[in-house]
Amino acid sequence: MKKIALSLILACGVAMAAEANATETKTEAATATKTEATKSAANGEALFKKCVSCHGAKAEKKALGKSEVIAGWDAAKVEEALKGYKAGTRNIHGMGGLMKGQVASYSDDDIKAVAEYISKLK
Ligand code: HEC
Repeated sequence: MKKIALSLILACGVAMAAEANATETKTEAATATKTEATKSAANGEALFKKCVSCHGAKAEKKALGKSEVIAGWDAAKVEEALKGYKAGTRNIHGMGGLMKGQVASYSDDDIKAVAEYISKLK
């Protein structure tokens, strides 16, 4: 009798360990997928974070009551605008200097990524 109880406990322990292992593997896989996904949307989403305070989370606001609403703009249009601000050649509402500061540190790739991201906001 004692033996049976002991082997039951043992079996239980093994089963639990196996389950714990499986859960761990699943979590790891999920984390890996998430990292992949964040990486490819990477930059656009991360780079847009600092734009949200003025343009809105969905780019739905007139920034500081001045800019156009940029939600719905296609990527090329956003890209062109941002490059203009960065170069200091664009100033539509008298606040081009402010936007220049926003994108001054953005590379061409960053500008492309954030423009892509904005164009896909719904
Ligand atoms: C501090 C507020 C503020 C922040 C932060 C900000 N913007 Fe702007 N944005 C403005 C203002 C004001 C304008 C209008 C500039 C002008 O006079 O041409 C503007 C204009 C724009 C335009 C052109 C819209 C138009 O009316 O022609 C785009 C595109 C844009 N911003 C994208 C961005 C992106 C992308 C970021 C983040 C990297 C960002 N903005 C961060 C305030 C802001």
